[in-house]
Amino acid sequence: MTQDELKDAVAAAAIDEIRPRLERDTILGVGTGSTANLFIDRLAELRHEFQGAVASSEATAKRLRQHGIEVFELNSTGTLPFYIDGADEIDLELRMIKGGGAALTREKIVAACAERFICIADASKRVATLGGFPLPVEVIPMARSYVARELVKLGADPVYREGVVTDNGNQIIDCYELMIEDPLAMEARINAIVGVVTNGLFAARGADVLLLGTEDGVKRF
Ligand code: A5P
Repeated sequence: MTQDELKDAVAAAAIDEIRPRLERDTILGVGTGSTANLFIDRLAELRHEFQGAVASSEATAKRLRQHGIEVFELNSTGTLPFYIDGADEIDLELRMIKGGGAALTREKIVAACAERFICIADASKRVATLGGFPLPVEVIPMARSYVARELVKLGADPVYREGVVTDNGNQIIDCYELMIEDPLAMEARINAIVGVVTNGLFAARGADVLLLGTEDGVKRF
């Protein structure tokens, strides 16, 4: 199977996971990226079975609306029953690196408001130790150089993602060469640097379920 076919298989599995729990007033949290897009395309078929969604990015909001799914502001909703999103890496304890698409901050906020985070990913995303994928850090623009110097002290090789402006008007630094032995501690350490908005480690709030697309079918962890 191609990687796209594996992603579509997990998108379908996520639909099967949530469908029995959908009610007319259900509002879902929906992530960002190519796997999340495939999920949104399948979600469209169920649009009359739930109320709508909170989007983790402008791109996702646009795609949801194109499918006739109502998009809600997070501040007008309560706790969401599910947040469904992809990952750039996910470890055996369902901690993740996210933000390859620069949507990490809104993803983390919507995930924080969800009872269950369902991660959908193809098998290439599963790793023993996080850090092979460069860790994205969203920064306030005027703090970029300072934050980069502080990230070097943590052992990272920080690279400014040129030309990218996040939905929040900020910039992204990608951290290469980080061996993330303790994701929870690293998440907190980076977030404590002045000028950091958030970083792409999802350890304090990892996934609750992983639907992993493999050659042997979708596996549930
Ligand atoms: C967006 O900022 C990311 O966190 C995505 O969720 C992540 O990059 C996964 O994207 P793909 O599904 O495209 O691999």
